[in-house]
Amino acid sequence: TDGVLVDRYGRIARDLRVSLTDKCNLRCTYCMPAEGLPWLAGPQLLDDDEIVRLIRVAVQRLGVTEVRFTGGEPLIRPGLPRIVSAVAALEPRPRISLTTNGIGLDRLAPTLRAAGLDRVNVSLDTLDRARFADLTRRDRHADVLAGLAGAAAAGLTPVKINTVLMRGVNDDEAPALLRFALAHGYELRFIEQMPLDAQHGWDRSTMVVADEILAALRAEFALTADPGERGAAPAETWLVDGGPARVGVIASVTRPFCGDCDRTRLTADGQVRNCLFATEESDLRGALRAGADDEELARRWRAAMWGKRAGHGIDDPTFLQPARPMSAIGG
Ligand code: GTP
Ligand code: 5AD
Ligand code: SF4
Repeated sequence: TDGVLVDRYGRIARDLRVSLTDKCNLRCTYCMPAEGLPWLAGPQLLDDDEIVRLIRVAVQRLGVTEVRFTGGEPLIRPGLPRIVSAVAALEPRPRISLTTNGIGLDRLAPTLRAAGLDRVNVSLDTLDRARFADLTRRDRHADVLAGLAGAAAAGLTPVKINTVLMRGVNDDEAPALLRFALAHGYELRFIEQMPLDAQHGWDRSTMVVADEILAALRAEFALTADPGERGAAPAETWLVDGGPARVGVIASVTRPFCGDCDRTRLTADGQVRNCLFATEESDLRGALRAGADDEELARRWRAAMWGKRAGHGIDDPTFLQPARPMSAIGG
C-alpha cells in the first residue's frame, strides 16, 4: 500500500462509505422537502468504472477493509450489482454492505447476494402504514417490510434496522419496534437525529436522545451490557433480556464517538469527505478525469484525511451545518 488514511489525531480510516446517488424514492420529512432537491446532474456523477477505480485505490493502496454503499437511495442506481461484483473481486476483498430504505430489496436481494454483498441496514421509522406514509410522503410501507424479509431470506445478514425517533411523531413506538425486530431476527438501532436535513430544521428539542430511548425500552425489556467489542461502530449496543438478541443506540449528538471514528466518504460526484460534518471536500473526480494515476489519487485522499477535525462540533456555539444535506453525503 501507499500508507493508510491517518489523520493528525492518529485515527485510521478503514471504513469507506460510497454514495451512489443523491436521489431517493422517499421524501422523509426529516431529510428533504416534498418537492425533492436540485439533484446532481449526470456529468457530475462518477460512472460505474470511476467508482470502482476509486474504491480499488482505497482498498489496494490505502488499507480500506470495509465498503458501504449509501445514497440517497443506492438501490435506484442501475449499476449497483455490477459495482458490487467488481468490488467483491478486489484483492484483498473488502467486506461489502449497503444502507437502504428497503424499497425493491425483496427483488434485488438475491442478485446482490450473488454479486458479493455481505449485509444490509434498512431504514424503518414506524410499524404503522399511515404514519409511514406521513413521514416519508410515500405509501411504501409494505415494500420496506418485504425488503427486510427478502434481505434475510437471501442471507444478507445480520439485517439491521435504523430508526430515527422524533418527538410527537413516532417516539411512542420504541418498544413495539424492538418487539418486531426480535420476532424477525433483525438488529434494531435507534439513531439520534442530527443537524443534516436539507431544510435546516433540526431542533434540539425535537431530538429524542439516547437516555430517553433506553428508559422507554427498559419499561419492557431488560438491557444489559454487551460484552462484544464495539470497535469503531457508531452504535452502542445492549443485550436484550439476556441476549443473544441486541439493540443499539447511535447517539451521535449526546454521546459522540468521533474519537474512535474510522470513516472516510466518497460522494456520488467524486468528492472525498473526511467527516459527515466536514465543511470542505477534496475533488477526486477532477483529478481522475484530468488523468491522475492511482498513486496521485491515493496521495490526494491521504491529504484530505489528514485535515479531519477532532469532532463534529454540534455543541459549539459556532457550529455550522455542512452545505450538503445528508441525502447527498450518504449518512
Ligand atoms: P454498521 O457497520 O452496520 O454499524 O453501519 P453504520 O451504523 O455505521 O451505518 P448506517 O449507514 O446504517 O448508519 C446508521 C447511522 O449512523 C446513520 O444515521 C448515519 O448517518 C450514522 N453514521 C454513520 N457513520 C457516522 C459517522 O461517522 N458519524 C456520525 N456522527 N454518524 C454516523
Ligand atoms: N439524523 C440522523 N439520522 C438520519 N437519517 C437520515 N437523516 C438523518 C438525520 N438528520 C438516517 C436515515 C437512515 C440512516 C442512514 O440515516 O433514516 O436510516
Ligand atoms: Fe431517502 Fe434516506 Fe433521506 Fe429518507 S432519509 S428521504 S430514505 S435519503
